Amino acid sequence: MTSAFTFELRATDGKARTGVITTPRGKIRTPAFMPVGTAATVKAMLPESVAATGADIILGNTYHLMLRPTAERIARLGGLHKFMNWHGPILTDSGGFQVMSLAALRKLTEEGVTFSSHIDGSKHVLTPERSMEIQRLLGSDIVMCFDECPALPAPDEEVARAMRLSMRWAERSKAAFGDRPGHALFGIQQGGVNRELREESAEALKVIGFDGYAIGGLAVGEGQEAMFGVLDYAPQMLPADKPRYLMGVGKPDDIVGAVQRGVDMMDCVLPTRSGRTGQAWTRRGQVNIKNARHADDPRPLDEDCTCPACRNYSRAYLHHVFRAGEMISGMLLTWHNLHYYQELMQGLRDAIAEGRLDAFVSEFHRLRAEGDI
Ligand code: GUN
Ligand code: ZN
Repeated sequence: MTSAFTFELRATDGKARTGVITTPRGKIRTPAFMPVGTAATVKAMLPESVAATGADIILGNTYHLMLRPTAERIARLGGLHKFMNWHGPILTDSGGFQVMSLAALRKLTEEGVTFSSHIDGSKHVLTPERSMEIQRLLGSDIVMCFDECPALPAPDEEVARAMRLSMRWAERSKAAFGDRPGHALFGIQQGGVNRELREESAEALKVIGFDGYAIGGLAVGEGQEAMFGVLDYAPQMLPADKPRYLMGVGKPDDIVGAVQRGVDMMDCVLPTRSGRTGQAWTRRGQVNIKNARHADDPRPLDEDCTCPACRNYSRAYLHHVFRAGEMISGMLLTWHNLHYYQELMQGLRDAIAEGRLDAFVSEFHRLRAEGDI
């Protein structure tokens, strides 16, 4: 049996799209937000709890897993899905981006990147071929091309060099990936905030041909205005009949703006990471549970939220367990944040399907402007 990887566009509203990606591991409703499960865990959450928030797919990281516990060990133990007990689709990032932000003593050549582990200093090599092999050993459903993403601001020559190298690596990634029915390979557009470079990158990727197309190289220090400036044209450079994935984004208002501009998939550590540092995201904006004003507050974090943190606990309790350094603090706030993000995605999908995205977005911004009460 070879079930295919397909993308069905169900409705559009302006540039925004809603649809369904079908994989042998299950369906992904788009626009989709992918919780980050870097080290074979979505931190502070059981996989069944992640699914309960409404997530259809999670993200894993080549870089972290190759260093610990290694892709070969995960393969021997039956693959990443079995290893971490998440049986839905998994997208894995290719490692290049994380090498550049986390590893020490990096050396970049045409062949790939040599680097020292941030864990124990041991020396490793990543190339497009090795990244494809690792992502295959993990059993990833959506494999990302090996690329180089420069931090912004950077000179145009540097952005162009990194983009052209990434396009040569994209070709090698495709050749090394081969033909794997039921598994998808996504290309990654680079080019910073330069429209001509974004166009050149999109054309190069389309010639190679991918199952989906990511917009990389954003949310790397350019700010929301510059990012939206790129998203005003970049998604439309990519094939309309394939999923478009904006990597590493973002805050709720980034997500809404990206979806309005034609993005189908996103991932970000924000809801999980901020859940562990006492930050909650709600329809009325951000709530800092550390703040002393919550110490005697018997109300839930968000009256209208149906997550376990809001149904069963007071702000006073959430404040107390954060201050006391109790593990349940990160667990409850992460659950709430992921629940809020997935509810936002469902709201966006429904609004697009019903042709009322503008009204949905106006209400989204109105509630946030009103603020926490
Ligand atoms: N995560 C966020 N941005 C990027 C990018 O440009 N490339 C890759 N591989 N991962 C990312
Ligand atoms: Zn909640």
